[in-house]
Parts: sequence; C-alpha cells; structure tokens
Amino acid sequence: MSNEATLPQPALDALEKFPQAFHDDVAYSGEIGAAWAPGRVNLIGEHTDYNDGYVLPIAIDRVTAFAGRRRDDGIVRIWSQQFEEYAQFPLAGLPEKFEQLRAGMPAWARYILGVATELAKADMPLAGFDAVVDGNVPPGGGMSSSAALEVATAQACAHFSGGRFTIGAEHATLRPLEVAKLCQDAEHRASGLQSGILDQAASCLGRPGYAIFLDCRSLDYRHLPFRAPDLSLVVIDTGVRRELAASAYNERRQQCEEATRLLRDLVLKHEPENVEAQHISALRDITPEEFARYGPELPELLRRRAGYVIAEDARVLRTVKLLEVSEFVEIGKLLWQSHAGLRDDYEVSCLELDTLVEIAQQIEGVLGARMLGGGFGGCTINLVRNKAVEALRQAVEQQYPERTGRTATIDICYAAGGPGSAWIS
Ligand code: GLA
Repeated sequence: MSNEATLPQPALDALEKFPQAFHDDVAYSGEIGAAWAPGRVNLIGEHTDYNDGYVLPIAIDRVTAFAGRRRDDGIVRIWSQQFEEYAQFPLAGLPEKFEQLRAGMPAWARYILGVATELAKADMPLAGFDAVVDGNVPPGGGMSSSAALEVATAQACAHFSGGRFTIGAEHATLRPLEVAKLCQDAEHRASGLQSGILDQAASCLGRPGYAIFLDCRSLDYRHLPFRAPDLSLVVIDTGVRRELAASAYNERRQQCEEATRLLRDLVLKHEPENVEAQHISALRDITPEEFARYGPELPELLRRRAGYVIAEDARVLRTVKLLEVSEFVEIGKLLWQSHAGLRDDYEVSCLELDTLVEIAQQIEGVLGARMLGGGFGGCTINLVRNKAVEALRQAVEQQYPERTGRTATIDICYAAGGPGSAWIS
C-alpha cells in the first residue's frame, strides 16, 4: 500500500488520468496500482557495454510510470499520455505471436509488448491490465527513455500479476539484473537496436546518491557514492533526434567485433606463446599496451574505433578511483577526453552536441562535458559547479540558437532510486 505522497510525479499524473482514459466505472478485479522505473545518465563509459567493458551510470530522478488495474481476461490495454494514443494486445500466444502483434503497434507500445514477450518466454505467469503510462524522461534524448519504459513494464507486469511473480533482491522470482537482461532482449526485439546492457542495468540498480560501476562482462557491480554537494549534473538536450541512429549504432558494434578479431590474430601472430590471447573475445580483452603495439596494423577506421573503446574503458577505471576520493576536477578532464574520442574516433557525435560541449568549455566552473548515450543527437552531460550553472544556462540560451538554429533545454538531474511499485490506498 502506498499513500500518494510517496509516488513519483509521473505515477501521480498517470493515476489521475486513469479513470478518464479507461472509463473506470466497470467492475475490475483488483485495486489500483502503480509501477515505475527511472531513466539514467552515464557519467562515463560510452559504447563500452557491448564491448564487454565498464560503465559508470547514475539512475536519475526522471521516471516512466504506469497506473492502472489488473484485468482477468489476459488483455493488456495502455493509454500513453505522452503520445496520446491507445495500444492493446493479448498475452495469449506470446512469445510466438510477437512479430505478428508488433507489426500493428505504435513504436512506443512495441517496448511494452517486447517486455511482456520476454517475460512470457521466461515462463512468468502474466496477467492482463489496463494502465495509463506517463513519464518525464525525454523520449529519444539519450536519458534512456526506452529502458525506463521497459523496466517499468516489467515492474508493472510483476505488480499486476498479484504476487504470482516478483522482482527484487534475495527471494524474488527475478533479480534486478535478470530483469535488466530480459529488458535488453526486449529492446532488441522492439527496436532492432543491438544495444548493450547499460541503460537497463542503470535503471534496475539505481540508488539515491550513488553511481553504479558495472562490469558488463561479469555483471558484477558496485554502488559508489556520488558525493558532490557543490556540483550539479546538468543535462542539455540538443533537441535533435536522428532516425538512422539505430543502423549507425549496429554498424559500430560490428566494427568493434571486426577489430577484436583482427587484434586477436595480430597478438597471436606476434606472440604465439601468449595463451591468454586465444581468449580475446571483445575489445575489453585488449590492454592499452597491446593496442599501442598492434593497433597501428589495423585498417585506419577500425584502429580509431577500437582505440576509442580501449581508452574509454581505461577512463572508466580511472574515474572510479577518482570518485572514491571525490576528485571531480580530474573526472571533468576525463569527460572532455571522452567527448573528443566519441567525436573524432568513434564518430557518433553531431554538430549540435559538439556545439553544446564547446559552449560549456568556455564557462569557468564547468569541470567537464560530453555527449551522452548512443549519440547522433540527444543530450550532453555536464559536471558543473553550482555557482556556474546560471552562466552555462545563459551561454547556451544565447549561443546555441545562433550557431545551430535550434533551441536547447537545460535540466539538472539527481542520482535517484531504482524501480518501484505500490498499491494505492
Ligand atoms: C545506447 C545503448 C546502450 C549503450 C549506449 C552507449 O544508450 O542502449 O547500451 O551502448 O548507447 O554507451
């Protein structure tokens, strides 16, 4: 049971909308419930997750939330407040009927269907429900709106199953990282983006005041206190959304796999006695020293792609050490470097992102900034002294439209908790 004061705002908004969206005057079988999950920022460790590397995300105080009631006929009906649209699908026949159902659904609803499909595949006893979904994670903006929707869907499915399966630590049916994995598979199904586990893991593992250091190969993780009372995490949205981002993303992934194969062959050729090298299966396995030795023999494009990823992994490990001693000035320097690598070597930035980072660079008190998430649009993350936030805002408001013809939105984010659910009393 929850009193409404403890619910995140989007859950309250969804709750308020529910009676109108579903003409809630019919006899339903259960109480009203809400379920939600957060978006994330990533302090550092971009495009490292699918290379079995390291990431350092922070779940933020922006969530996607469902509010609704269970149904007894195995139908899921959703009203999206953000897209102002209904979608519905039957649970019977999942996972087999996924493709057939997907074809007729709006893009946002495919994530919900994808998660229900993965839960069905994992033999979770699902129940139907009617719900409103609402949220304040900007769609497509690099703050993982899709992961927030996926994880919130898993949470809603567990909630409306009425305890037939549960999500949580220890004795729950599904542990947080199992949910993250399942939601990652749902993302692949729903959007075709061959994403890593960064976004879903960050959403599942959020803890107020903490960053999450995750090894994307072993899935070992550690919460690190993000103690920076005189700093703000400023997220600036370029306003740019690129349709082709998914294919460019999948192409980067292939290039990393190709670079891994070539580097393994090079190490084995030059060091036949190196038994470790036989186990090289991702860029994570190449040390910066090996890369310095053999990288120059790679084709130029693959050398730049791999060089960025290997350096970024090292930056994450360094950031973890710096975070442990609250050395934020040094962390800031790594953020600038990360952006330069994403722009010049990994080539996933764009004019608007670069412009925002250049504007940030001029402001004293901005310790570091870089593009956030997959790239090709979306947001930058800026580590800013509180007293410099206003100067940054003014510079962006003045220079960004002049230089790009667009308007940017500026927000401060806080390290917040993971998913949740509640029955409403
Ligand atoms: C997207 C993907 C993540 C990750 C980032 C880049 O957000 O969903 O898995 O690869 O891009 O770090």
